[in-house]
Amino acid sequence: MLHVTKSYLPDLKEYVDYLEKIWSSNHLTNDGPLLLELEKKLAEFLEVDNIVFVGNGTIALQLALKAYNVIGDVVTTPFSYCATTNALIWEGCNPVFADIDPISLTVESSQLENKISAKTKAILTTHVYGNAGDLVKQEEIASNAGIPLIYDGAHAFGVKYKGKSIFTYGDITTCSFHATKIFHTVEGGAVITKEKKMAEKVRELRSFGHKGDIYLSAGINGKNSEFHAAMGLANLKHFNQIKGHRRKASELYELSLDKKVQTIQWNPSVERNYSYFPIVGFNNEHLLHIIKCLNEANIFPRRYFYPSLNELPYLLKQACPVSEDIANRILCLPLSASITDAEILEVVKIVNLSY
Ligand SMILES: Cc1ncc(COP(=O)(O)O)c(C=O)c1O
Repeated sequence: MLHVTKSYLPDLKEYVDYLEKIWSSNHLTNDGPLLLELEKKLAEFLEVDNIVFVGNGTIALQLALKAYNVIGDVVTTPFSYCATTNALIWEGCNPVFADIDPISLTVESSQLENKISAKTKAILTTHVYGNAGDLVKQEEIASNAGIPLIYDGAHAFGVKYKGKSIFTYGDITTCSFHATKIFHTVEGGAVITKEKKMAEKVRELRSFGHKGDIYLSAGINGKNSEFHAAMGLANLKHFNQIKGHRRKASELYELSLDKKVQTIQWNPSVERNYSYFPIVGFNNEHLLHIIKCLNEANIFPRRYFYPSLNELPYLLKQACPVSEDIANRILCLPLSASITDAEILEVVKIVNLSY
């Protein structure tokens, strides 16, 4: 059975070595030594100034919105995981969807500009699949409007844009370290910002909004534990090898898939992390046919992302025809740090025959 991904696990011994440290420190959570070590190593590895390790990628989004005190209209992408939109709703924001560019599948800059009004309080958009739109233009749009630019970088761990970490663009970026992600801590996430003061604010909000006996704001429990930090420390050592395997697997897909199979185009300014391998069918019926053929061979790709977020049943209708069309036709093929060439060629054989 082949699933859309398989979580990476380091050698058990590497994890147990960290567990022994937890047993000797007896510090299980609340800014323990392993968490501090992970934050330091991640900042060095990603070449970012401040990174705050949190419970998951959804709470990371909520903390970023709360840190900027964003309440009201937020221009956002319809092509992302539902957590991007749900975080807005949980923080009392109103998602205003700007349609995507059919090539990069990230928000189209002119659509973004058109959707900004006097009521807009922020922009929240996703580096979907680790791809990017014109980030310099987006920074300019946000700065002209005088609103924060928040990026959901859940898919973009290790991605570079114009030679530097993609996490250094915009005002604040979040990431998910969920078990299915290219770098994971089982459950986990992070908030990344250039501003030391903003990182301190996120740290405060992450820990109920108080420092000892000084109560500063209505924070939440967004903390993460030493056990999760331990998984991150063990996995980080293998990131380059994991990315290398995924790169080779993606190249084999690209080489062997028939020219008729539509794949997505990567922004040439992006240095990829090979997190996902999406393909696009001719129409919804065709997509369902591809899924059926793969399922019959015990291969389980994922409709990622479906539905287009503007079509979530609990939202008022807004039209985003490009995103709706893509969401009806897109599928992520299996990709992991342990997928074999034979498995890829089996997927390719079935996909090629279904076009
Ligand atoms: C784009 C995007 N944003 C946010 C999240 C939420 O992350 P988490 O599952 O860590 O809460 C995900 C998770 O898949 C995601 O894909």
